This record gives sequence, C-alpha cells and structure tokens, in this order.
Amino acid sequence: MTAGRTDQADSRTAPRRMPRWRADLRLGTRIAVMRAGGLALALRGDPVARLMHRPWRLDPYPTYARLRAEAAAAGGVTRSRTGIRAVATHEACTAVLRDRRFGVRLADGQMPFDPTDDAGSASGSDGHDPTDPGTALIEPIDLSLLALDPPDHARLRRLAQPTFAPKRLAQYRETARTVTARLLDDAAARGTFDLTADLAAPLPISVIAELLAIPDVDTPRFARWGRALGAALDGVRSVRHAHALSRATADLRALFADLVERRRAEPGEDVISQLVHALDAGTLTLDELVSLAQLLLVAGFETTTNLVGNAVRALHATGTWDDLVADPGLAAGAIEETLRFDPPVQLTARFAHEDVEIGGRALRKDSGVLVLLASAGRDPAAHPDPDRFDPRREQTTAHLAFSGGAHYCLGAALARLEGEVALEMLADRMPRLRPAGRIEPRVATVLRGPTRFPVRAD
Ligand code: HEM
Repeated sequence: MTAGRTDQADSRTAPRRMPRWRADLRLGTRIAVMRAGGLALALRGDPVARLMHRPWRLDPYPTYARLRAEAAAAGGVTRSRTGIRAVATHEACTAVLRDRRFGVRLADGQMPFDPTDDAGSASGSDGHDPTDPGTALIEPIDLSLLALDPPDHARLRRLAQPTFAPKRLAQYRETARTVTARLLDDAAARGTFDLTADLAAPLPISVIAELLAIPDVDTPRFARWGRALGAALDGVRSVRHAHALSRATADLRALFADLVERRRAEPGEDVISQLVHALDAGTLTLDELVSLAQLLLVAGFETTTNLVGNAVRALHATGTWDDLVADPGLAAGAIEETLRFDPPVQLTARFAHEDVEIGGRALRKDSGVLVLLASAGRDPAAHPDPDRFDPRREQTTAHLAFSGGAHYCLGAALARLEGEVALEMLADRMPRLRPAGRIEPRVATVLRGPTRFPVRAD
C-alpha cells in the first residue's frame, strides 16, 4: 500500500520527465516481474504468495487454515519466502492490532516502500522519486487515517467521529430504507438483475453522499472511482489500473476542493462543513481535509457493497435464505455472521516501531506484518465450528472484520445498519430471490466480494 504525497515537483523546476510510453513500459515490466516472482512462489506452495494469486485467491480459507497451523508451530508469526510475515490466529491478530508498539508507518514516520517501486528506493527520502512519472502514477492514493500514526491519527479521527454519532445514524437508516425501496422497485421490474450493480453498490454510495452532502451524485462514476481505489489496496495491477487510479484521485480531489469552497460560502450540518470549520480554526490542513473526505467516501462504499454480496451468497450457499425470509429479524445475525465468516476486508498490515516479541517470535524494528483478519474469523480457538455459516450463532468472541485497536473502523455501525436494511428488505420484498448465473469475484486480495451477482426474484 502507498500513501499519497502532494508535494509533486513544480513543473517549472522539475527535471525533464520521461516520456509517458517509456514510463508505462517500465511500470508494466516492473509489475509483470513482481507478479511472475510471486506466482512462482505460489506454485511452489508458499501460502502468503497464494493469497495474492489465482486460483488459490478465489478461496483463501484453506490457505488461512494452513497459515494458522504453521503459526501454531512457529509461535504465532509465520514468515513466507516472499519475505512477508503474517499473523493468522485470532490471538496473534488481536495482539498486533492492539499493541501500541505497532503502527501503520515505519518507526521514523515514513511510509513503507511501495513494493512495485524499485526505482524509487534509491531516490527520495521515503523511497520515491517524484519526478519519475512511473512513480507518480502509482503514488496518488492517500489513505488519510489509515496511513497515520499518533499524534496526527488521533487529531484527525476526533474530527471525523461526530459524523457517526447515534443521532446521525438514525437519519442514515431512514435514507438507507428509502434508497433500498427505490432500488428494489427498479430491480423487481426487470425480473433478473445484478445484485451488486443494482443494489449493493448504489445503496452505500447514496448513504455516503448524504453523509458528505454531495449534491447530484453520479452513481456509476462513483462506483468506478471506488473500484479503482479499492483495487489499489493490493498495489497497482497494471498500467491501465495505474491510469484509472490517477484519474480517480484527481477527480475526487477536484470534487472535494469544490465542496470545501461551497461549504465555506454556505455551511451546513454535514461533515465537510465541520471539517471546513476545523480548517479555518487551524486544526487541519486542506490536504488533510480532502484526504479524509476521500477516505470516508471510499472506505464507506466498496466495503459495504461486498458485505451485502457476501451475505446473500452465504445465505444461499448454506440454505439459510429461507430462514431469513421466515424471520427477517435474523438480518442482524446474518450480517454479523458474514463479517466473521467471509469479511469484505480480508487483511491489513502493521509495522513494528521497536524490536518486539509476538508469541515468542522476535520481530525487528520496522518489520512489516500482514494481519489476516479473515483468518482470525475462522480460528477454531476463537469460534467453535468456524467453517459453518450460522446466522443464529451466538458471537461469543468478537470478530476482527472491522479491525481493532486505534484504527477500528469508524463506520462499523453504519455498515451494519446498511447491511441489515438491505437483507431485511430483500427478504421481505423478494422472498424468492435466488442466484441466476455465474457470480464474478473481485480480482483482489484485500477486498473480497462479488463484482457481478446475477439474481432472479420472480
Ligand atoms: C462492511 C463494511 C466495512 C468494513 C468491513 C470495514 C472495515 C474496516 C477495517 C478493517 C478498517 C481498519 C483497517 C486497519 O486496521 O488497517 C476500517 C477503517 C476505517 N473505516 Fe471501515 N469498514 C466498513 C465500512 C465503513 C464505512 C461505511 C465507513 C464510513 C462511511 C468506514 C470508514 C472507515 C474509516 C474512516 C476507517 C479508518 C479508521 C482509522 O484509521 O482510524 N468503514 N474499516
């Protein structure tokens, strides 16, 4: 993962840039070499490499089981031949997430290197060369809170928190209901429809648009931006993806810069107006404001889209859809069970800020660790009979689908609420809903869910 830097070189003073075709070729070659190396390790059985490659990535749960078994033998942390370390058990994942000696940056506050950026490693202080267009292309995703350690993290998080106050959530529930009713009316008229494109994606986009008070939302455009940015959590996949990412971040920055100006002229009750107030009071910079708004937008819809898709898929695959139809009150349990059983965000990463010991295994300062949130949900030491999907399960141990510690998801209550509304209303209005074709999975490691999910409701 990379975080953004906004200090692009001034065009008047920057050294002459490499032509675009050469930069593309260089980036494409770099990505292909990385991919080939990873695939070779995956073919030789390396479990961490398998999480990143097909066909293993399509069903990562057997790989997680192997990593948990290896972790038990290795004292909690496994090291793969990719050089990446991972924690896979509920206990070790929780320990890393809660341990203040770990952060999302390196100990000196710099961002970790982008693994696709070999050229940059010899140049800038953070391993990037801002004058290299290849670097610039893979650079511009700024993850705001997700890429900040204390004290900046706490300062920004405090500013975003009021957006998710209980009073606001009640209002978002009403929006979710109204939007879902409209989307289901349109879908019902069609007979066969795509659960992702026709419900699971537009629902959270509409709710987030209300949260940020964005007027005239262009849903397909937002969905495109979300896909490009969501995919970037795995790193840049191709030159085409790099360009899509550049365009998406530039568009989003322009959108939020414009919103800031409008709210300054005409403040409202929304989160952007509150942030503009903080900007004027000097507790936040304009770059921070724009990145935070961008994170709220993107974190809020790609994830929730996957939650609805994964829930409906699991309910059908396990024959529990009819239970939900008989008792729509099961929706909350089904959402919670989906978060444990097949979570939208599969993993995250942390870096040790000093030499630490996890489960008896020493980790050097600045070592990176993958925290396999989805694996923790299937750990039999935390969840009895973990491979069984049961919407009535009593969740005795908290799952880690929303992470833990300082970065615990700010939108968890909102995501649950949207998921519940979607399931309740689907079960109530479309009791005969069933899959009607091949479910297309997302090409990703960090995010998991269907990009296309044909269903019939007649
Ligand atoms: C099912 C839906 C969702 C899932 C599975 C999810 C998952 C996560 C996870 C795993 C993290 C922490 C990553 C880490 O520890 O490195 C996170 C953070 C965050 N999420 Fe969510 N999320 C969801 C929905 C939402 C929604 C609806 C919003 C807001 C509208 C949101 C806003 C955020 C924000 C702002 C953070 C950063 C918190 C911080 O770093 O302090 N999320 N989310």
